[in-house]
Amino acid sequence: MSSIEINLQGQVALVTGGSRGIGRAIALRLAQAGANVAINYLRQRTAAEETVAAIRALGRQALAIRANVGEHEAIEEMVEEIKKEYGRLDILVSNAASGVLKPALELTEKHWHWTMDINAGTLLPLTQHTVPLMGERGGHIIAVSSLGSVRAIPNYAAVGASKAALESLVRHLALELAPKKISVNAVSAGVVDTDALSHFPNREQLLNHSAERTPTGRLTTPEDVADAVLFLCSGLSAQIQGQTIVIDGGYSITG
Ligand SMILES: NC(=O)c1ccc[n+]([C@@H]2O[C@H](COP(=O)([O-])OP(=O)(O)OC[C@H]3O[C@@H](n4cnc5c(N)ncnc54)[C@H](OP(=O)(O)O)[C@@H]3O)[C@@H](O)[C@H]2O)c1
Repeated sequence: MSSIEINLQGQVALVTGGSRGIGRAIALRLAQAGANVAINYLRQRTAAEETVAAIRALGRQALAIRANVGEHEAIEEMVEEIKKEYGRLDILVSNAASGVLKPALELTEKHWHWTMDINAGTLLPLTQHTVPLMGERGGHIIAVSSLGSVRAIPNYAAVGASKAALESLVRHLALELAPKKISVNAVSAGVVDTDALSHFPNREQLLNHSAERTPTGRLTTPEDVADAVLFLCSGLSAQIQGQTIVIDGGYSITG
């Protein structure tokens, strides 16, 4: 009997916000499949060091790079560091996100720009700087989005709009980069129990409601999202281009 294996041996991945939560699960999944992984973080060095250690324990090379992905110059320096260390990049996962959770009428100009810059404004410079490192081999670019891009959620106006812009950019990049053998897609997750949820005033309610309403009967985990990312980095997804794949156990098809 033959089996199918996803083998990323020799490839190099960058996962922004790869130190914690969903990004960490993605970094580990790509490492399990053979990739060397650079993770990016902003504030929590210890978490980044722990994730690097976990990747190395899998027998892969790992690097933690501190950079605010909301700053274009910081992105350029981060990619330069990857170039120096590995000389190539095959997979870019734009996962880091931030944002202000407030009713729309209370959002200030600063809140709006902060959220837009980090969630929607990052993918373009990341892509511009990393595509040259993919060279003629091509590669895979995956952005991490959320259901707030297409659904209305209380206090989520800025983040939801930023994710909608992100998904649109994914489609446009997918069109332009396909001839370079680069796939560009997004994964959009339902509610996932990470530290990010501590910023929601109604965290418990959100988790309970979500689990109850999910047809598969459980919440989506960081590993569920990571599995979809791995699939998008494999030859099994060769004809998937410019899509947003929803990973929510069917939550969004109900109600
Ligand atoms: N959790 C959910 O329910 C959910 C649902 C749908 C989609 N998502 C999406 O999944 C992605 C990850 O979310 P999560 O829940 O895993 O978040 P999380 O647990 O809060 O982790 C966020 C990660 O991003 C990093 N980060 C934050 N701001 C950054 C910046 N400006 N520059 C560089 N790194 C930065 C953090 O690093 P430090 O720790 O060093 O600050 C950390 O590694 C986001 O795109 C989010 O929108 C989450």
